[in-house]
Amino acid sequence: MEHKKLVPFPEDFLWGSASAAYQVEGAMEEDGKGLSVWDEFVKIPGKTFKETTGEVAVDHYHRYKEDVQLMAEQGLKAYRFSVAWSRVIPDGHGEVNEAGLQFYENLIDELLAHNIEPIVTLYHWDIPQALQDKYKGWESRQVIEDFTRYSTILFERFNGKVNYWVTLNEQNVFTSHGYMMGSHPPGVKDPKRFYEANHIANLANASVIKAFRELEIKGKIGPSFAYGPTYALDSKPENQLAADNNETFNAHFWMDVYVFGKYPKLAMKWLEENNLAPTIEEGDYALLAEGKPDFMGLNYYRSSTVEHNPLDGVSEGKMNTTGEKGSTEAGGVPGLYKGTDNPFVEKTNWDWDIDPTGLRIGMRRIDSRYELPILITENGLGEYDTLEEDGSIHDTYRIDYLKAHVKAIQETISDGVEVLGYCTWSYTDLLSWLNGYQKRYGFVYVDREENDEKELKRYKKDSYHWYKKVIENNGVTD
Ligand code: NOJ
Repeated sequence: MEHKKLVPFPEDFLWGSASAAYQVEGAMEEDGKGLSVWDEFVKIPGKTFKETTGEVAVDHYHRYKEDVQLMAEQGLKAYRFSVAWSRVIPDGHGEVNEAGLQFYENLIDELLAHNIEPIVTLYHWDIPQALQDKYKGWESRQVIEDFTRYSTILFERFNGKVNYWVTLNEQNVFTSHGYMMGSHPPGVKDPKRFYEANHIANLANASVIKAFRELEIKGKIGPSFAYGPTYALDSKPENQLAADNNETFNAHFWMDVYVFGKYPKLAMKWLEENNLAPTIEEGDYALLAEGKPDFMGLNYYRSSTVEHNPLDGVSEGKMNTTGEKGSTEAGGVPGLYKGTDNPFVEKTNWDWDIDPTGLRIGMRRIDSRYELPILITENGLGEYDTLEEDGSIHDTYRIDYLKAHVKAIQETISDGVEVLGYCTWSYTDLLSWLNGYQKRYGFVYVDREENDEKELKRYKKDSYHWYKKVIENNGVTD
């Protein structure tokens, strides 16, 4: 469906870019910071590519002024970053570390001085290790209170300076990878524990939004959710049903809770039948009902394609997790479908489907089901980049990817969907959790390899200059 005339991007559209504390900051134990679960998890041999850690990352902690200067030169309108909980409260629940708060205040002030809107993520996967040790982190209801206290400290400190707050980043990813697939901390592979921890994370999310409203904090708040639409391989009814199941279990299962305060009936029914339903205590639904966000934050990288899984459901008392291929990284794969290749799209070197139309489809689905504005909190291409001798980086592939997605957003705006902004992932190159530094996403190249920090010098990629023009023109012109 081509529009005869595209609606222009709104004048105040947030042309942004994003990062996360663990992936950029480094300064792992500086100025009183406590350790997070990621600081510890990466020490386990074999967990990350070449045993890479975020101990130094790209040293944003010390170079934030240089990084903000690059953003300012580019004309960036918004920068999304996360706060490391253990920098602000080293043990997660006790004393506040003023030096940690001051770092974020300095960063925010630096951004504001350059007219860059800060978008602050409260949680991007780095729960303090002390809480993991004390009560198993997200598996205990005590985390609800501690996370709300930590968030409230940030709300009160930065009220008036920050207008956009993101609660949990990709709850679907950190819970499924952490508790079902075991590839993220705490490395658990247990579907029952996954659904329990996820329910507690839902309550924590709602509790923080409730506190935000009660304290009458200025601005907007919402989660950022990893979502791409699911396609059926073909029109075979069983495959269509599989796609439907994937949407229910990988998307509605989270977003319905955020917006409607309840799980999709179909999913709960299935979980109950399989003894996997989370424990619902009295008052849970009342709390969830108070967590309605102001926007849906969307992290979009790819769509996924599925077909019917002959092993449908749970086999031998275990969760059947076949079909990871092609499924989105937004896990929670309960085996009711099987990931498969989409013959119509190209793939990245990491086997991710490249599908700008999928972004449009995804946003339309969110818009019609949830009727909330959308803030694209992440979108980007992870690739190998080459630093040329003259300091240039010709990342045409990244420009192509981003351009196609920006065009898809404009089509979606023309469809009538309200989109607040677009944050590319990422601003500088950064640590890619399990993939080290080889998988690069940034506009700014950082000269480092897995276990070689070099001087961490910054270089502008071709995509940096390209995005500068997009911002100047408020959209792509060709
Ligand atoms: C989403 C996550 O929020 C981010 O931390 C990660 O690096 C990107 N996806 C790329 O995988």
